[in-house]
Amino acid sequence: MDASEKLSKSETIRLREKFIAPSCKLFFKADPLKMISAKGQYMFNEKGEKYLDCINNVTHVGHSHPKIAEVAYNQLKTLNTNSRFLHDNLVMYAERLANLLPPPLNVCFFVNSGSEANDLALRLARTHTKRKEAIVLDHAYHGHVISLIDVSPYKFAHPGGEGQPDWVHVAPVPDVYGGKYRNDKHSAEELVQLYSDDVQKLIDLSATNGKGISCFIAESLQSCGGQIILPPDYLRRVYKSVRDAGGVCIADEVQVGFGRVGTHWWAFQLQGEDVVPDIVTMGKPMGNGHPIAAVVTTKEIADSFAATGMEYFNTYGGNPVSCAIGNAVLDIIEEENLRDNAIAVGTRLLDGLRELKEKHSIIGDVRGVGMFIGIDLVKDRTSREPATAEAQHIITRLKQEFILFSADGPNRNVLKFKPPMVLSLDDADHLLRTLDTILDEIKAAN
Ligand SMILES: Cc1ncc(COP(=O)(O)O)c(C=O)c1O
Repeated sequence: MDASEKLSKSETIRLREKFIAPSCKLFFKADPLKMISAKGQYMFNEKGEKYLDCINNVTHVGHSHPKIAEVAYNQLKTLNTNSRFLHDNLVMYAERLANLLPPPLNVCFFVNSGSEANDLALRLARTHTKRKEAIVLDHAYHGHVISLIDVSPYKFAHPGGEGQPDWVHVAPVPDVYGGKYRNDKHSAEELVQLYSDDVQKLIDLSATNGKGISCFIAESLQSCGGQIILPPDYLRRVYKSVRDAGGVCIADEVQVGFGRVGTHWWAFQLQGEDVVPDIVTMGKPMGNGHPIAAVVTTKEIADSFAATGMEYFNTYGGNPVSCAIGNAVLDIIEEENLRDNAIAVGTRLLDGLRELKEKHSIIGDVRGVGMFIGIDLVKDRTSREPATAEAQHIITRLKQEFILFSADGPNRNVLKFKPPMVLSLDDADHLLRTLDTILDEIKAAN
């Protein structure tokens, strides 16, 4: 047994089955992995076997980063308390975040998870607009608390879900490859028009019912729906329609923020400099695994919230340790040029995957930006029928080759690449070679 392992793997499994709620699922449940340590883009199991990690988007600047460990330790042994005391870490971090966002997004709330951030975003929108109705994208996931299950078709429309609440309107996800309107039938201009018109229809419906829209909430690139890149101009049109109807626009950057797209800090910026949401939520990569999350909004919206007279207090949100870690994550992204790395590695992968697409007809679509890439697998390129079983097989084979991958999308046929931002060009080449070999095997078996 590794020195840092306290129990045998079978004992860990036994205790987990006995004491952990059965709804808490494991990756690779038939043969779960027990990880003992990690460094950079690699994880090591109890046998010391090394896995290339293509799934952990939380450990953004790399697993076990020494600078994160150091600042956390130094701050923990000095002071950790709540945000009702003045502290430099909090205000310096808030100023930095505001400076990374376009104006007028410059007022911060610190919380502990993406769910808390999105729940608070909904509250802000409701208070500011004095309305409740929300428009969400199909297949979206925004968090695990009740308010967010309600706006997450990924949950409410699936087993255990209670269905769509009457205050929630679901717009089709603008997936131009496998969605409601496809790029084999429509031009790019038609696609963005059709998808944004569908949102307009929901806004009109809400107005007709006499209620009116409070907010539109969407990821700026939809991860849970199958690594969807929003068509150019989509957010510009939708944000305008929502605002014209008196609603506010919430960009969920919990998965895709902090430079994952490479060219920009935030994924909504891919849609143009003039495309600015009213509320941005962030989480996962923000603390590199330490639970810190935030909502950044405008002074106007924050003032409406304050005007109710209700104080906002969050026991852990914005504590000195969390903010020290948040600041260190930003330092590392800058010092190690991780956005440039996302562009270089992402481009290498996208080019390589497009070459693999020429060779393997199972690859229907390759899409992505920076370190956010989806490989849409199909049984047939004309019908675009999802190759769900094949996607699961590929993930299992990649695991046997010590590469961690996952699949998503409504049909679980989209291989999803969202690794720590330190993944290297050599890792990308290794991934491409391994995938090529596995796809050759699949071809030979058919
Ligand atoms: C897009 C998105 N928003 C919000 C959340 C919720 O974040 P958390 O799990 O930190 O509560 C998630 C989590 O997967 C997410 O993917």
